[in-house]
Amino acid sequence: MLQLRSTPSVLILGAAVLFIGVAISACSSDAGASPDQPIAFSHRLHVENEIDCSYCHEYYDRYAVAGIPRVSVCVDCHEFMEPVEPNPDLDRIFEFADAGKEIPWVRLYELPQYTHFNHKWHIQAEVECQVCHGDIGISDRATRHMVYKMDWCLSCHESQQASVDCVTCHK
Ligand code: HEC
Ligand code: HEC
Ligand code: HEC
Ligand code: HEC
Ligand code: HEC
Repeated sequence: MLQLRSTPSVLILGAAVLFIGVAISACSSDAGASPDQPIAFSHRLHVENEIDCSYCHEYYDRYAVAGIPRVSVCVDCHEFMEPVEPNPDLDRIFEFADAGKEIPWVRLYELPQYTHFNHKWHIQAEVECQVCHGDIGISDRATRHMVYKMDWCLSCHESQQASVDCVTCHK
């Protein structure tokens, strides 16, 4: 009896979730957007196999950028791994590599040209990746955690006594 009575609200909830899903995919620059990637890449699978973020994003502790791995990084591991069953996503790695092409990953985070960001200083100040990028390291599909706004940068800089001079972020 109870179960029957709860059915309509479950249905309504389902419809609401679907609607939100459609709204998000219609505007890919929003927070929560998860664009289709050329290869279904799971951070979780890799991180669970104890591959450190720095293995693929090798620059974050030294440079402004963190870096997206080249296809040769994928090949270095996967050419020695026999998949349990055929997987078209793995085949595609070798198709790009054989054609001498990089994988055209769709970027989640890109500040406007006139701004300046630097990973190195944030990592040295011990700001965790998750603060700015959410749970990407444990997810099967990369999702944009947030859209960066100047006020957000400024409020953390104010609270942590980091610079709020315009030229720090606008050169
Ligand atoms: C340091 C080694 C390493 C590197 C580098 C690496 N992978 Fe993997 N990859 C793994 C491991 C380990 C697994 C998990 C295999 C499993 O559990 O079956 C995996 C799984 C996968 C799978 C799922 C395979 C399946 O059978 O479900 C895909 C797709 C994949 N990787 C793509 C990539 C891509 C694309 C890159 C480059 C950006 C990459 N990998 C870089 C080690 C690596
Ligand atoms: C085996 C390689 C590999 C490892 C390990 C890895 N990543 Fe990635 N990462 C990728 C690839 C490939 C992409 C681009 C495809 C995508 O967005 O799913 C990416 C995308 C990202 C992005 C989005 C960048 C953008 O602007 O599109 C962030 C943020 C990120 N990774 C953070 C992390 C963090 C944090 C860790 C560790 C917890 C980590 N990654 C570990 C390969 C890796
Ligand atoms: C204080 C916030 C912040 C922290 C902490 C942070 N990032 Fe980022 N990350 C950004 C911003 C902002 C961008 C976009 C930069 C741009 O467009 O110039 C970005 C871009 C990226 C990208 C895309 C490629 C690139 O280099 O631009 C990757 C990959 C990435 N971050 C990985 C990481 C990893 C891994 C960590 C932790 C070791 C980390 N980030 C910590 C804010 C942060
Ligand atoms: C969670 C806190 C936090 C957030 C969010 C944050 N920052 Fe920072 N930022 C810091 C800290 C802490 C430092 C290091 C200050 C130092 O070492 O003196 C720093 C340093 C910097 C520097 C280097 C400053 C210098 O002296 O050269 C730049 C550039 C910068 N941040 C830009 C940004 C931008 C752009 C954003 C937003 C996209 C952002 N930050 C978001 C905390 C943050
Ligand atoms: C800690 C980093 C940081 C500092 C300091 C900073 N900005 Fe920004 N600013 C950004 C980022 C990131 C953006 C792009 C995101 C956005 O539009 O909110 C931006 C965007 C802007 C824009 C474009 C806004 C729009 O709506 O198109 C202007 C104008 C601007 N900043 C002026 C300034 C001035 C003036 C100062 C000094 C009083 C300043 N900023 C200090 C990070 C910063």
